[in-house]
Amino acid sequence: EILTTGEEAWVLTTKMPFRSRRGDIIGTFGISNDVSELVSTQKALERERNILRALIDSFPDHIYIKDHAGAFMVVNRAFAAFAGVEDPYAMLGKTDFDYFPSDLAKEYQGEDLEIFETGESLLNREGQRRNAKGEERIMVTTKVPLVDEAGERYAIVGMSRDVTEQRLAREALLQSERQIQHIVDNSPAVIYLKNVDGSYLLVNRQFEKLFHLKRKDIVGKDDYAIFEREAADMFRENDILVIEEGEAIQVEELVPQDDGNHTYLSAKFPVRNLAGDIYAIGGVATDITDRKRHEQALSRLNDELMEANENLRNAQEQLIQAEKMESIGRLAAGVAHEVKNPLAMIGMGLEIVARRAGEDDKRLGDAVERMRRGVERAKDIIKGLVDFSSAHQLKLEKQDLNAVVEEALALARWQLQSANVELVREYSDDLPPVEVDSTKVEQVLLNLCINAAHAMEEGGTLTARTRTGKLKGVERQEGARTERHLRKGDRYVAVDFLDTGPGIEEESFAKIFDPFFTTKATGVGTGLGLSVARKIVDLHHGMLEIVNRDSGGVRATLTFKAASD
Ligand SMILES: Nc1ncnc2c1ncn2[C@@H]1O[C@H](COP(=O)(O)OP(=O)(O)OP(=O)(O)O)[C@@H](O)[C@H]1O
Ligand SMILES: [Mg+2]
Repeated sequence: EILTTGEEAWVLTTKMPFRSRRGDIIGTFGISNDVSELVSTQKALERERNILRALIDSFPDHIYIKDHAGAFMVVNRAFAAFAGVEDPYAMLGKTDFDYFPSDLAKEYQGEDLEIFETGESLLNREGQRRNAKGEERIMVTTKVPLVDEAGERYAIVGMSRDVTEQRLAREALLQSERQIQHIVDNSPAVIYLKNVDGSYLLVNRQFEKLFHLKRKDIVGKDDYAIFEREAADMFRENDILVIEEGEAIQVEELVPQDDGNHTYLSAKFPVRNLAGDIYAIGGVATDITDRKRHEQALSRLNDELMEANENLRNAQEQLIQAEKMESIGRLAAGVAHEVKNPLAMIGMGLEIVARRAGEDDKRLGDAVERMRRGVERAKDIIKGLVDFSSAHQLKLEKQDLNAVVEEALALARWQLQSANVELVREYSDDLPPVEVDSTKVEQVLLNLCINAAHAMEEGGTLTARTRTGKLKGVERQEGARTERHLRKGDRYVAVDFLDTGPGIEEESFAKIFDPFFTTKATGVGTGLGLSVARKIVDLHHGMLEIVNRDSGGVRATLTFKAASD
C-alpha cells in the first residue's frame, strides 16, 4: 500500500463485516498494520539461510546435523552424494540405517550417543568409511554437540573430510622414501646430504659404519663435529665450491679412517628445491684407495722398467763406444808405430840440411825451421796417439791425491802464469788414500789444467779443490766403463778444477771426449787431451765429469774410489 506519506509499505490487514442488529451487513471494519519491518527481517533471514545453504553445499567436506534419534536435520550436497542421494533434502528425517550397512550405521550411532551423553566433541577421528558405491574411503571426522537455550544437547553437527588421496600420496611418498633409503643403505659408497650450512640431513649405513656413529648422532651436526679440522676444512671447501658453481663436481678427498687415510672419489652435487634454489649438497663417495695404490704401484713399475731400459741402452752405447775406442786405439798404435821411424829419419835429415845451408841462405834456413816445427808437431801427435793406445798397464800405488794434484799444478805452472790465471787451492786435509798410477793421473790433471788455461786466455781463476764423501748416485757417462766399479754408497775421493772461462757449448758436449775433437785453431790443439784422459781414468775405474758451472766456466771433476787401508 501507499502510505499517506507517499512511501510504499507492507501492511497486514484484517477486515470484518460490520452488521446491524438484525444481522445485515452494513459495512466493513478493517485494521491495517504496517509490517514492512517484519517482512524485511524475514527476507534478510531467508537470504542469510540461502547463503549458508549455498556455502555448505559448495563444501567438499561432508556436513550433517542429526537429532537425538539420529534423524538427519541438515545434510549438505557432498554428504548426500557420499550416501548416493542426489537431493540432500530427501535425506531429512532419515537415519544412517537408511543409507549405510547396519554395522557401520551402528558404529556411527554409537559415536553420536556417546557425544550426547558426555557432551564431549569428537575431533579429527580418522577411520575407514564406505560410501554408497561400496568404496572404502579414509575419512577424518569431527562431531560436535549442539546445545539449545536451556543448555540441553539437542543435536550433533558432523563434518567429515575425505583424505583418501592424501593418505595414498603420503603412503606412496613413504614407500619411495623407504625404497631410496634401501638403495642408499645397501650401496658400498658413502652417501650423504648436507644443508648449505654444512650440517648433515641424511647419511647412509656405510657412513655410520665407517665412522662408528649412529644416524641420529650425525644428522644436524657438521663435519667439524665428526672429523679432524684438516679433513673438515677440505670437505667444507669442496661443498662451498659446489654451492658457488651450482654444478656437480668430482674431487678426490682424503678421509681419515681406522686404518689411516683413505682416498675417496667424491661426486658432489647441488640439490635444489622446487623454486630452483640450492638447499643442500649431496655426495656419493667411493673408496679408491686400492685402485690408487695399484695405480701407483703400476706407475712405479713403469718407472723402473723405463729406467732399466735406459740403463740397457746406456750400457749398449757404452759398449759400442768402448769397442770404437779400442779399434781407434789399435789403429792409432799402428799409425804411430809406422810413422815414428820415418819421422825420426826426417828429423835427422833436417839437421844435416840445416848445417849445410849455413847462415848465408836465409830462405833455405826459414824453410828448414818451418819443417822442424812441423816435425815437432807430428811428434806431439804421435806421442798423443801412443798415450791413447798405450798398454793397459798401470803402476798402482796408494797415493795422497792432494800431492798428485800439487805435482800436476807444478807441471802446468808455466801455462797458467802466461795466461794470467790466478790459482786457488782448496784441499781437504782428511782425504783417504787412492790407489792410482800417479804419473798417469798427473798427465790427466795436466791436460785438465791446460784446457782451463786455454779457456782463460784473458786471465781468470782456477780453483783446485779436493774432497771426499759417500757417493749418492753415479752419473752415467757415455763411453765410460766405470759403473761396475763406483757404486752408490762408496767412499770416494775427488778433485775439481773450476775455471772462469766461457764454458762449453751444448752441442760440443757429446764430442769433447772423441779423439781429435778440438775447437782450437789448427796447430794449437790435437783434440787428444780429453780422450787420453778419459782412457786413463777408465783404466783406474774412476769417473771423469766435465760440466758447465751455473756461474759460468767449466767444472772438471775426477773421482776415484777411496782405497781401503
Ligand atoms: N775448461 C774448458 N773450457 C772450455 N772448453 C773446454 C775446456 N776443456 C775442454 N774444452 C773443450 O773441449 C775440447 C776438447 O778438449 P781436448 O783437451 O780433448 O782437446 P784440446 O784441448 O782441443 O787439444 P789438446 O788437449 O789435444 O791439445 C777443446 O777443444 C775445448 O773446446
Ligand atoms: Mg786439451
